[in-house]
Amino acid sequence: MKELKVSAINKGTVIDHIPSGKGLKVLEILNLPKDSTILVAINVKSRKLGKKDIIKVEGKILSEDEVNKIALIAPTATVNIIDKWEVVDKKKVEVPDEIVGIIKCANPNCITNYEEVKPKFKVISKKPLKLKCHYCERTMEEGMVVKNLL
Ligand code: CTP
Ligand code: ZN
Repeated sequence: MKELKVSAINKGTVIDHIPSGKGLKVLEILNLPKDSTILVAINVKSRKLGKKDIIKVEGKILSEDEVNKIALIAPTATVNIIDKWEVVDKKKVEVPDEIVGIIKCANPNCITNYEEVKPKFKVISKKPLKLKCHYCERTMEEGMVVKNLL
């Protein structure tokens, strides 16, 4: 089968199976250091998704918090840890049941927006994404969630 080959990496993190079109947003959310070496593939053929985006970050292992942020906009993504050219760990990202400190509440009057209280949401639906603020009960859907990522 003919396929576009994206270079393998020696060491780092590969975020694979990102829904096509979300790759650049994922990259923005990761907020990686300016001198990072990053390979981005957009609209690559995928058996599972039809088309997908891929991000490869050389020399960086993503933290749990970063993985959680990705899950909110790219729930199909897999995170592969690469060492000595081999996949040494593969995790499916999953939207957690509770989200703490990643998203800002959309309600300007919410206590989390004027006091030192960490935003906290209960996930009431994963697909389509729907969150409910623990403090003011404001519900937020996917579009608002993406706009309010911290
Ligand atoms: N990869 C890489 N560099 C390596 C090894 C793997 O960039 N040295 C990338 C692959 O290109 C792929 C991802 O890491 O995008 C996962 O690799 P692998 O598990 O070998 O691929 P698949 O079996 O196709 O993964 P999956 O089962 O998750 O679809
Ligand atoms: Zn709130």
